[in-house]
Amino acid sequence: MKISDFELYRDLLLRNSGLSLTAEKSYLLDSRLTPVSRKWGYPTLEAMTLALRGIPDTALLNDVIEAMSTSDTSFFRDMTPFTTLRDVLIPHLIKDRGRNKHLRIWSAGCGTGQEAYSIAITLKQIESKLKGWKIEIIGTDISSQSIRKASSADYTQFEVQRGLPVSYLIQYFQERDDVWHLQDSIRNLVTFEQSNLIESIDDLGLFDIIFCRNVLSNFENNTRQSILGRMSEQLDENGFLILGESENMAALKTDFTPLSGCPGLYGHNTGRYRIDAAETGTKDVSAAS
Ligand SMILES: C[S@@+](CC[C@H](N)C(=O)[O-])C[C@H]1O[C@@H](n2cnc3c(N)ncnc32)[C@H](O)[C@@H]1O
Repeated sequence: MKISDFELYRDLLLRNSGLSLTAEKSYLLDSRLTPVSRKWGYPTLEAMTLALRGIPDTALLNDVIEAMSTSDTSFFRDMTPFTTLRDVLIPHLIKDRGRNKHLRIWSAGCGTGQEAYSIAITLKQIESKLKGWKIEIIGTDISSQSIRKASSADYTQFEVQRGLPVSYLIQYFQERDDVWHLQDSIRNLVTFEQSNLIESIDDLGLFDIIFCRNVLSNFENNTRQSILGRMSEQLDENGFLILGESENMAALKTDFTPLSGCPGLYGHNTGRYRIDAAETGTKDVSAAS
């Protein structure tokens, strides 16, 4: 691919999705975009590239972004955030909230829904503690294709074999014609919507916990910083942010403080985080020194 074409895709992706395409990843353009050019009826990838030089068709641009995004995900990915949610964060929030029995959890960059449904299954496991609580779990992603799949709650054998404990597969899924369908008792706990993290997120409302794992690593530092800045406004002052295990914000100026107890766990700089270990008997999520 010509340098000028690489630069066109790099700029389009950055401007419209925040995704950062580095020169080392330029080899992905041919293999991922050739199928898009065929789908759109262009004789060659070069012909599609030419069409994108004008005012690009929004649907075509979305297909380009989807093709270039990393969408790998699995149920209960990295497990620790979900045990921390069950054993530490939810018990803490139940105690902290008093009379306001309302919990809102956001899976930002939810992909095909496995993360949001893993949160829902985790909460289902402790539903007796959450009796009388209103729970909202919202999954958002830039990819309309991923949002459609997430909403269908249908997964392949390969997808349910990745990370999902067999007991949950038996308990919450039904198999029909090689498709594993998630029961409505879990599915109805989650709503999905298409939303771009580099645009306004105000209308999603205020959350108690934000999961944004394995998403920001695809962005440049200034994009990460501005997304985290807007997320800090959408997170309750005493709420929690969970990033991917290997993602760290050390180089960024943000309103968040890392908390010990779970890799990737953060709270507001001004929040009340100290969760007494005695509260749960398991972990201490106090501000990391
Ligand atoms: C690697 S997946 C992570 C899925 C899940 N959070 C996990 O950890 O398994 C990254 C997701 O981020 C989404 N994404 C990329 N850029 C985005 C943006 N600007 N706004 C919203 N979602 C975005 C991609 O479509 C993809 O589904």
